[in-house]
Amino acid sequence: MKILLLGKSGQVGFELKRALSPLGQIAAPNRQELDLSDSDAVSDFVNKTKPNVIVNAAAWTNVDAAETEKELAYKLNAELPRLLANCAKAVGSKLVHYSSDYVYPGTGTQAWSEESETNPLNYYGMTKHDGDQTIVDSGSDYLIFRTSWVYSARRNNFMKTMLRLAESKKELSIINDQVGSPTTARLIAQTTVLALRSNLQAGVYNLAAKGHISWYQFAKAIFNQVEVLNFNSSIERMNAIPTEDYPTPAKRPLNSRMNTSKLESALDITLPSWKDELSDTLEEYLERK
Ligand SMILES: NC(=O)c1ccc[n+]([C@@H]2O[C@H](COP(=O)([O-])OP(=O)(O)OC[C@H]3O[C@@H](n4cnc5c(N)ncnc54)[C@H](OP(=O)(O)O)[C@@H]3O)[C@@H](O)[C@H]2O)c1
Repeated sequence: MKILLLGKSGQVGFELKRALSPLGQIAAPNRQELDLSDSDAVSDFVNKTKPNVIVNAAAWTNVDAAETEKELAYKLNAELPRLLANCAKAVGSKLVHYSSDYVYPGTGTQAWSEESETNPLNYYGMTKHDGDQTIVDSGSDYLIFRTSWVYSARRNNFMKTMLRLAESKKELSIINDQVGSPTTARLIAQTTVLALRSNLQAGVYNLAAKGHISWYQFAKAIFNQVEVLNFNSSIERMNAIPTEDYPTPAKRPLNSRMNTSKLESALDITLPSWKDELSDTLEEYLERK
């Protein structure tokens, strides 16, 4: 199998590069080799490579900056998926793409299913939504995995921000009314491999770890676990605050709960709890540091 992996330096892309390797030969251009905002270069690359599968882990992921850098965010998150879907159709490839809990409206307390209404609260969510829709409408053979609260030992994420702050701050105020499922990039990559191996039927699937917590609870869990790993934290006090006390350029959904039963039953798997992967990820990060 010939696989074209885009975004290999990202959280999910890095894990995919390792996880996909037993499935075949991987072409994984970096930004210098292929600028994904250059549509002609992307088409040429796909036509030249003629992969069996295109795995797109690249995206504009800076949610706040998307509010002002609209053109670039839209290019990466909505126009690139459309282009990839069309290229995939033309060369007969399957397209695997990643999307976000931010496509859902974030209201209420129920877990979003793939059939739930979409109604993004911010520009990033809107770009991800348009990316999904364009793939669904393209008539290509696709898999879209909507995931949430991604973290890993690499790049920028909440876990790493907490540990960085814990080296200098005595007090932290963390949002306690946004609820979701912290999901490791590794789990996303492993599940992608399972999906490709089992020829999962084309469609949209929610993919997130089990269990729901707030950012405040996640921070608490991170600090409890690093204590055991001998991390020297300077935090003496943590305050649970509402979203309105931490204004950001992009509005955030309060409810990012994801119902993953469609994916679990299609693959005959049980996704692990967010708790199961936290200590391994912390250990990996602290060892690399
Ligand atoms: N992070 C989250 O919490 C989260 C939550 C829900 C869904 N998702 C979705 O999950 C997927 C993976 O996210 P992630 O957190 O792994 O992303 P990430 O760590 O921010 O990585 C993004 C990747 O895209 C590449 N990229 C961006 N613009 C590019 C360009 N113009 N040309 C070439 N490469 C470009 C980056 O390359 P460089 O290294 O060169 O910048 C990087 O490899 C995305 O679809 C995202 O929307 C993420």
